[in-house]
Amino acid sequence: MNIFFYATYSNQNEFLVTLKKKFKDDKLYTIKDKFDFNIIDVAMVWNPPKNIFKKMKNLKVIFSIGAGVDHILKLPNIKNLPIIRVKDPKMRKRMFNHVLSQVLVFQLKLKIYDEAQRRKIWMNERYTPLNSELTIGIMGLGYIGNFVALNIKKLGYNVIGLKRNTSTKIIPFEMYDSKSLSKFIKKSDVIISILPDTITTKNFINANFLKKMKKSSLLVNIGRGSAINELDLIKHIKLNPNFYASLDVFNKEPLSKNHKFWLNQNITITPHVAAITDHDSSISYLYKRFIDFKKNKKIKSDVDLESGY
Ligand code: OXD
Repeated sequence: MNIFFYATYSNQNEFLVTLKKKFKDDKLYTIKDKFDFNIIDVAMVWNPPKNIFKKMKNLKVIFSIGAGVDHILKLPNIKNLPIIRVKDPKMRKRMFNHVLSQVLVFQLKLKIYDEAQRRKIWMNERYTPLNSELTIGIMGLGYIGNFVALNIKKLGYNVIGLKRNTSTKIIPFEMYDSKSLSKFIKKSDVIISILPDTITTKNFINANFLKKMKKSSLLVNIGRGSAINELDLIKHIKLNPNFYASLDVFNKEPLSKNHKFWLNQNITITPHVAAITDHDSSISYLYKRFIDFKKNKKIKSDVDLESGY
């Protein structure tokens, strides 16, 4: 089959080398090659150019080479093509580690001691809650969110979840939906957002949402930056000195040099690295799904175009 590869990763060349080795029985083309776009059967992309799919009249399936698919859904000409996302077990293990690290920093008040160290202050001791005294609210319970929630729960934290609609699937923690959102927010000591970028999630965490959060609490965003109204968050932190945010994703990435987040002591910034793309395991996943498609000539989309994820 003819595969088109495009990515805006800083290490995309290394990714391509591994991809070529794995897909050695098929032809791989990049934007730098000379070829007729109509021969392309499969696209494997991260952040492709706007009109790229228009030229591929025989395209049959689009693979996102990451977990998110918003970079594809925002483009025109995707028609009703199946879209496949990477579901990498290593990625969700890394996400869990990242979340746990941020919960512990908050729980053990490490930001306070860190700041005290910079000022050479021998800080008096503070109360640190035990795991069972904290409620962790998780928004977005898909492949990654569900894993994070279950593993946080195993450590003795109270876990609650927010879903668009509380499905019939048995989930071993209390679930909330849009009708019980206020309850969910008020109950949580830490809120983890793993929300995708869709019309309904845009600015979901706004002044109104933040106002309902506990005065001393932590917001972690490892989903998409668009879920947070960034100006509202800055204003909220100014008024609430015991409110913390740990952000891995932003409205605009990379974060601009003059963004207010950089110098805010209550905000931890990581540059979209909560779960790095593991080349070997994500390429193995792409390969497995590709081989299924090659064999069966059809593939079920991972994405519901209506809900946008
Ligand atoms: C993502 C990814 O979707 O890094 O953010 O894969």
